Amino acid sequence: MLKKGLFFGICCFASAFSILKQVPNMHYKCRNSQYPRSNLMRLHVPDDKVPWNVEFPDYFPISYTDPSVYGKPWADVDFEKEGANPQRISWNQIDTSLNVDRTSFTGNYRLNTDGLPMNPMGRTGIKGRGLLGRWGPNHAGDPIVTRWARDLVTKSVKVDSTTKKPILQFVSIQRKDSKEWAIPGGMVDPGEMITETLKREFAEEALNCLEKTEAQRKAVNDRLDKAFKNGVEVYKGYVDDPRNTDNAWMETVAYNFHDDKNDIFNMNFKAGDDAIGVRWMNIDRNIKLYASHKHFIEKVVQLRGAHW
Ligand code: BGC
Repeated sequence: MLKKGLFFGICCFASAFSILKQVPNMHYKCRNSQYPRSNLMRLHVPDDKVPWNVEFPDYFPISYTDPSVYGKPWADVDFEKEGANPQRISWNQIDTSLNVDRTSFTGNYRLNTDGLPMNPMGRTGIKGRGLLGRWGPNHAGDPIVTRWARDLVTKSVKVDSTTKKPILQFVSIQRKDSKEWAIPGGMVDPGEMITETLKREFAEEALNCLEKTEAQRKAVNDRLDKAFKNGVEVYKGYVDDPRNTDNAWMETVAYNFHDDKNDIFNMNFKAGDDAIGVRWMNIDRNIKLYASHKHFIEKVVQLRGAHW
């Protein structure tokens, strides 16, 4: 009996784990569309021609790197324009010269005949870096802060009348670039630990920390140190981001910080930095969010047994 119970427990744990870690194996948002903040159309790539190992003799996509990327401290040099040699970059390693993590969560990526990284998910219809700073993986972190939706008067948790499951909310920001609602995540700075990225981005985008005084910022950081203690990793891997190209792509680590009693994240939210709006957003299957964010939110819903 005990053995059976233990076996069942292990199976449940293993399947919950595999649901949470499932990585999508196809990208859509970075294909067959206009490249963001440009008037360039990506070359059409049908689903069956996405994998690099499928022949596509007519595949000659244009190469594009947005002018706003050149010369930025967070960006790599441009090999074509600045005459640098891609062979000298420490691909698939931590690049100690710049403290940049060039490893991919998807495993070792391949280099093309020019010595440039190849998108591990396959073709995107455009070469170059587009709007991304780094060749190869560009790492981000996504803090998913959740609480239960409650009745304003009775304070009891709201339950959906059809699924009979409690309704979850998360702190959502509206992005300045695409105006879409999103998780308040952002890029990992060189040498930064992911735990720091999560706190820093949340402080900048959902609490407008960049416009606070030194003392106010310290108070917010102290509060976030406590609030961000018990996170659960819900996703780590490739992101289907509209900025991805054949040679540069987004990867992220998403953590859930759940405020079960609504006594940790009762903060004064104010949008800042790359965000123009912030609010607690109710979660269900119709939610529309930036890049793969809906996918990460669904993982949190499964983890918390919430309405979807
Ligand atoms: C965003 C993250 C997002 C990542 C990949 C970053 O710019 O701030 O929230 O997960 O891009 O789309």
